[in-house]
Amino acid sequence: MEARTAIKPLPFHVPAIQEEEIQAVVEALRSGWISTGPRTKLFEEAFAKHIGTKHALAVNSGTAALHLSLEAIAIKEGDEVLVPTVTFTATAEVAAYFKAKPVLVDIEPVHFNISLEDAERKVTPKTRAILPVHFAGHPCPMDDVAEFAESRDLVVIEDAAHAIPASYRRRKVGTMSPLTAFSFHAVKTLTTGEGGMVTTDDDRFAERIRIMRLHGMDREAWKRYTAEGTWRYEISEAGYKYNLTDPQAAMGLVQLSKCDQLWKRRNAIADQYRRALESSETYRTPKADADVQHAWHLYVILINPAVLRLDRDQMIEELRRRGIGTGVHFIPLHLQPYYQRTWGYKVGDFPIAEEYFERCISLPIYPSMTDDDVERVVAELQDIAVGFRK
Ligand SMILES: Cc1ncc(COP(=O)(O)O)c(C=O)c1O
Repeated sequence: MEARTAIKPLPFHVPAIQEEEIQAVVEALRSGWISTGPRTKLFEEAFAKHIGTKHALAVNSGTAALHLSLEAIAIKEGDEVLVPTVTFTATAEVAAYFKAKPVLVDIEPVHFNISLEDAERKVTPKTRAILPVHFAGHPCPMDDVAEFAESRDLVVIEDAAHAIPASYRRRKVGTMSPLTAFSFHAVKTLTTGEGGMVTTDDDRFAERIRIMRLHGMDREAWKRYTAEGTWRYEISEAGYKYNLTDPQAAMGLVQLSKCDQLWKRRNAIADQYRRALESSETYRTPKADADVQHAWHLYVILINPAVLRLDRDQMIEELRRRGIGTGVHFIPLHLQPYYQRTWGYKVGDFPIAEEYFERCISLPIYPSMTDDDVERVVAELQDIAVGFRK
């Protein structure tokens, strides 16, 4: 006990920021362009090239990327948007920005992605879009999603906040739907502190988002401060203030260049967890389908209440006592006061999501974890499994 408390706690997450990112941000600051400028443009170009899309539009959060995507398809009051109940509130709240209804959908029990079977039951004549979330980084079955959407005349907007780098049947996430929204929040696999990106091949969507992300100003508004720019600008809409800054983009450029290398480390960690825990009766480990690249943003295990005396909350507390940081992703939206009060959801509405929520724990998974760190998490889990067996 004494020895244990003396051990350095292992945090749930540590961003993969190294000297290169720091230098790139310093250079951006020294350049004088501290808001949106040439580095943001470079970041967009590099991102579009990396993903393989015609356009990549940088914004200041994943939430802004989702909001502008819905705006681009002209979502309006009374429309309905299908969203999994197991996601961060951002995926659903953006519908409410338009007084559209976030229609929650249960998850499937294998990868915890949106259940198309349940989505089927939730479609009405008012449904306009489906927002699949590649939960934890495991891509949704996009062929099925596309077919589902096409046959019901819905637009697919992918929430790829967890999904870089990720692919489905050799196609990168970001290339498969009319619009895809990425997040570069501090805990994400590619971070700019805060930030986001929309990818699309559609010129009209791209143009709309370009204008709406910066006050509804005409194209490339930031250029008015450059030598070739002009002071004259035109406001064509009531837009938003969602632009990414150059110091953030500088960080993003470095992160993007290391994205695949950082993934390799997370993939190796996931593999180490799997090998150690997959035969356990106490914990269910996540699996990646053969036809996907899992981004491994999160490593979510499910505890087995049939053999363990601890519930999820007690388990998290026990791990915390042992110096292991964990997380819960996510409290299903239908259990949150806003969604219950405003949209009438209640406990019991989504049985698979609720069972998942009772049992889920996200383990640490980030590139600076050593094999010994992973082994330490595994050892504590195994010790708990024996010590608290029913
Ligand atoms: C699934 C999901 N969607 C959207 C977001 C919103 O991204 P951001 O925090 O960059 O606005 C997050 C995370 O924060 C998320 O986990």
